[in-house]
Amino acid sequence: MATPELPAFYRLLSHEQIDSTNEEAKRLAAAGAAAGTLVWAAEQTAGRGRRGRGWSSPPGNLYVSLLLRPACAPAQACQLNFVAAVALAEAVSALLPAGAEVALKWPNDVLVRGAKVSGILLEASAALDRSIDWLVVGAGVNIASHPADTPYPATSLRREGAPDATAAGVLRAFAESFLAWYETWCAQGFPPVRARWLALARGLGEPIEVRLERETLRGRFGDLDESGALMLDMGDGARRPITTGDLFFPRL
Ligand code: BTN
Repeated sequence: MATPELPAFYRLLSHEQIDSTNEEAKRLAAAGAAAGTLVWAAEQTAGRGRRGRGWSSPPGNLYVSLLLRPACAPAQACQLNFVAAVALAEAVSALLPAGAEVALKWPNDVLVRGAKVSGILLEASAALDRSIDWLVVGAGVNIASHPADTPYPATSLRREGAPDATAAGVLRAFAESFLAWYETWCAQGFPPVRARWLALARGLGEPIEVRLERETLRGRFGDLDESGALMLDMGDGARRPITTGDLFFPRL
C-alpha cells in the first residue's frame, strides 16, 4: 500500500489484511497506545458496522480507525461522530468533481446523490470516574466498489466521478480534514461542528422515518440538539429526541 503523508499528530499502522481496524485500535488502546494511533487495512475479514451489522470490506476501499483520548465525558465524546462525519464529507467533496451532491445523513453517513458512500463506527470506553479512557473512530469509504445488498442505496467514489481515487488519497484527505475539525471541537466545543453538520445535512425540516429496535417513528427532521440527538417533530407540537436508530427518507 502506498503510504500517505499525514500530519504529525498521526502514527499510521498499515495492514494488508486484518479482522477489523476498530478491533485492532481497541486492542492497541487497551495496551496503552497513544492518541493519534491510526490503524489502516487494505482489507477486513470481520468488518463491523453500526448496530451490530457487518461491513463488507473487500480490497479497494478505505478501512481506517483512529484512537483518541479526549479529556471529556462520554456525552461530549459522542459529538465526535459529527466531527468525523463533517471531515469525511469534506474529504469526499474534495475528491469528487466540483458540484457533486454530497450530504450527511444522521448520525454520520456520507451520501453522494442520496446513496451511502461512507459510514462511521464510534466505540469508547470510560474510566471509573466516567471520563473517557479511549475512543475509536472507525471509518469505511466505498472507493472502488459498494455492497449491493443494503437496506439503503449505496455507491462508491469511482462510480460518482472520481476514477483515480485511492485509499491512500482518501485517507490523507480525511486525516487532514479530521484533524482541523478535531482541533476546532477541542477549542470551541460542539457549536461550530453542529452548524457545519446541519449545513450539510439531508432532510432538515422534511418528513423522515426513524427505525428503532422495536418501532418505526414518522415525523419531520426538526433539528440536531447539543448532545447530537435528532429532534423528531411529531406533528402535534411534540418533539422527540432520537439517540439511536436508522433514518430513512420516505418517497413522497
Ligand atoms: C456503518 O454501519 O455505517 C458504520 C460502518 C463503519 C465501518 C468501518 S470500516 C473501518 C472500521 N472497522 C470496522 O470494523 N468498522 C469500521
